[in-house]
Amino acid sequence: MIRIKALVLAGGKGTRLRPITHTSAKQLVPIANKPILFYGLEAIRDAGIVDVGIIVGDTRREIEAAVGDGASFGLKVTYIRQDEPRGLAHAVAISEEYMGKEPFVMYLGDNLITGGISDFVAEFQKNKPNAQILLARVDNPSDFGVAELSEGRVARLEEKPEHPKSNLALVGVYMFDAEIFEATRSIEPSRRSELEITDAIQRLIDTDKDVRAHEVTGWWKDTGKLDDILEANRMILETVDRDIRGSVDPSCRIDGNVVIEEDAVIEGSVLRGPLVIGRGSRIVKSYIGPFTSIYYEVTVQNAEIEHSIILERSTIVNLGARMERSLVGKDVEIKKSATMPKAYRFMLGDASRIEVP
Ligand code: DAU
Repeated sequence: MIRIKALVLAGGKGTRLRPITHTSAKQLVPIANKPILFYGLEAIRDAGIVDVGIIVGDTRREIEAAVGDGASFGLKVTYIRQDEPRGLAHAVAISEEYMGKEPFVMYLGDNLITGGISDFVAEFQKNKPNAQILLARVDNPSDFGVAELSEGRVARLEEKPEHPKSNLALVGVYMFDAEIFEATRSIEPSRRSELEITDAIQRLIDTDKDVRAHEVTGWWKDTGKLDDILEANRMILETVDRDIRGSVDPSCRIDGNVVIEEDAVIEGSVLRGPLVIGRGSRIVKSYIGPFTSIYYEVTVQNAEIEHSIILERSTIVNLGARMERSLVGKDVEIKKSATMPKAYRFMLGDASRIEVP
């Protein structure tokens, strides 16, 4: 059997997740305390793939620091530098030398799918088409690449169409043979000035290449937007088992699937899972509700939090109301002020979003 490689896209801009992505790579936002990108790398490894090229852009240092040479995942990682986010097909084009003539799987680093990609890879190896795409039925097809099928074959693909012809969205996992490189050279930039992978695949269809589709059976999320990240966090937390390693004092109440990592300290609090508290975090006299992920070295005191993700080293103290459906970045401080007048006081980064009652 041929040794298939993978191409993982971890460049791009992450405009829909500002301000978080002003300072960090969107692919490293933790879902249930594990960076999104790691789920993809694990799915690739579980499909029996070892060699992975990762496309990196401005955030390359952060991605490289998190993934390293890939050995901790059982992978051999090579970084491929993209000067600007010029589109998914551009990312493919610049990886030609790394891929050589062999088929490969392309995985978008902000996509999360349950159930892995082994079946998808096996189907490609069995049928050996020129390209194989993965489709999922969605309620908002205009936000994605959309496929039109005719008699089970892929007839047409359109990137984020205003009037979608179906509800079949292109999932961010693709398989290609070397024909794709020629296709990426034959297309022009789109309205959003990117070389679209949808256009490159359409080119394969137009030149009578064999393009097949596979529908996802499990669950899939493109985590480009806040609500999708929170939803992904919910889905993953639903699969965690109770695992308490940190210290919990006897006055606490812990219900359901709660994960408390090493060196976390929980005092006088109510924790209702599923949720995860990261290493070195302190939860004091607080309520942490379902579907909450608290990353490492966070302090929560006299506060109530639910359906949220709090990133490392942030502090949330003395809140007057419950916080919910929120994503809080790194080193953020939220606290009730003791001084008069009773007023909101903010120091917010560009493109921050605050909703007050
Ligand atoms: O998630 C599925 C969708 O992904 C598909 O339905 C669309 O057809 C496809 O175009 C893509 O749409 P997005 O607009 O969501 O792609 P996004 O710009 O978010 O980029 C996807 C990933 O690839 C993300 O991790 C960033 C990375 N990327 C993106 C571009 C444009 C790069 O590494 N380089 C790039 O040039």
